[in-house]
Amino acid sequence: MPVGQRYHIETWGCQMNAHETERVSGLLEAQGLRRADGARDADLILLNTCAVREGATGKVLTRLGELRSLKESDPHKVIGVLGCVAQERGAELFRRAPHVDLVVGPRALASVPRLLEQVRTTRHLMDLEHYTESVLYGHEQIRRQDSRKAYLTVIEGCSKACSYCIVPFTRGREVSRPFANILSEVRYLVERGTLEVELLGQNVNAWRDGGRDFADLLREIGAVAGLRRIRFVTSHPLHFSQRIIEAMRDCKQVCNYLHLPPQSGSDRVLRRMKRGYTRRHYLACIGALRQAVPDVRLSGDIIVGFPGETDEDFEATLDLLEGARFDSLFSFRYSPRPHTTATEFTDQVPRAVQDGRLARLQERQRQIQEVANRRHLGQIYEVRVEGPSPKGHTLCGRTAHGLMVHFEAPRESPDSFVNVQVTRTGIHSVSGERVELSPGTSPITAL
Ligand code: SAH
Ligand code: SF4
Ligand code: F3S
Repeated sequence: MPVGQRYHIETWGCQMNAHETERVSGLLEAQGLRRADGARDADLILLNTCAVREGATGKVLTRLGELRSLKESDPHKVIGVLGCVAQERGAELFRRAPHVDLVVGPRALASVPRLLEQVRTTRHLMDLEHYTESVLYGHEQIRRQDSRKAYLTVIEGCSKACSYCIVPFTRGREVSRPFANILSEVRYLVERGTLEVELLGQNVNAWRDGGRDFADLLREIGAVAGLRRIRFVTSHPLHFSQRIIEAMRDCKQVCNYLHLPPQSGSDRVLRRMKRGYTRRHYLACIGALRQAVPDVRLSGDIIVGFPGETDEDFEATLDLLEGARFDSLFSFRYSPRPHTTATEFTDQVPRAVQDGRLARLQERQRQIQEVANRRHLGQIYEVRVEGPSPKGHTLCGRTAHGLMVHFEAPRESPDSFVNVQVTRTGIHSVSGERVELSPGTSPITAL
């Protein structure tokens, strides 16, 4: 490959982007490139980018500015922008940052090796196609971060049209990956020691292949011998079904964790967001899930200060928090994005009002989480060890329902799973002590 020996990739955004960086790394390594220690050290620098909020795009543009001097001091370096900002800005990136050589959208990443062949002879190469075949990637080549936990794309793109969201523009229409393809990757991974898979999609539970739906997919992956945990993100309330609840209840490998973003608690705002469901539908989904799977952990996303959001609408969102009692919540100030219809609303909410609402929402959620986490006190959970703890304990890991646990254990312990009894609870995590269970007993949350 004519771009030298060493590559460096910086990644922003969602799990899908993290995984796509693994895929691009695999493609580059198949061409003989090796990972560099950093941007200075690299012949090829790629930014895999996120455009979901203005700030995310802004970070990429700032980083590109920083890379200009690196390119000036070493014109041999090749610089590429991949992912959602590549799609959002397209050729404008070349005008704004002429030191960029390559712009490749999130559905065209398989083109990267081909474009790199031409990059020394042709300036400013670009591929922004939404290739349908992007779901048919070769899984043998992926350069995974973690050998025990693997991301797996099951559906790409988004065919919804939420009025605030740039993702349908950046990622194109939804395409499900064929069932046989997914299953052969799962088997391949498990044979090589993977214990946990995380199924990815913008609307992962919209997955379909012929007569099979997402509930069938969960059950069939759950039947692969040797796989211990199955997670999935992100679910959409419109595609959440009793069949998925039953698959979560029946299939012991499917983790009792659900990320189901409501976005707002006000029906008026939900309508203007074009989410397609009501607050009542949302609460009914999580109510039915909690009934079938009582120890489920639940998280969500909320946007505050959407155009036209009144104090009354915001109170309805605070009230949704009381009903939903999320175990964790991601909350954002509404950010106007190009290629979305919400920018046409004339009743934008002032920044100071958005900030005040965000602070109130986050404070209320902290209180809810602190109380919600107390239910774990004294429980014994099976924890998958993830690594050293940043919190003064030796190790940390996650329960099957996604709770972060810090605990003491010999650092060199080779065990992938340990049993930990929770002795203290906090807002974002809990801590505890390792316990040996007598034979025949199982932890409260078994896998
Ligand atoms: N497909 C997922 C979400 C993908 S984007 C779903 O439909 O739930 C991840 C999160 O970013 C969204 O859930 C939303 O809360 C937030 N987000 C998306 N566009 C945004 C915008 N313009 N301003 C602020 N937050 C936004
Ligand atoms: Fe964006 Fe809505 Fe699609 Fe989610 S469902 S990616 S919020 S358009
Ligand atoms: Fe960001 Fe694109 Fe993911 S906009 S959140 S990287 S789909």
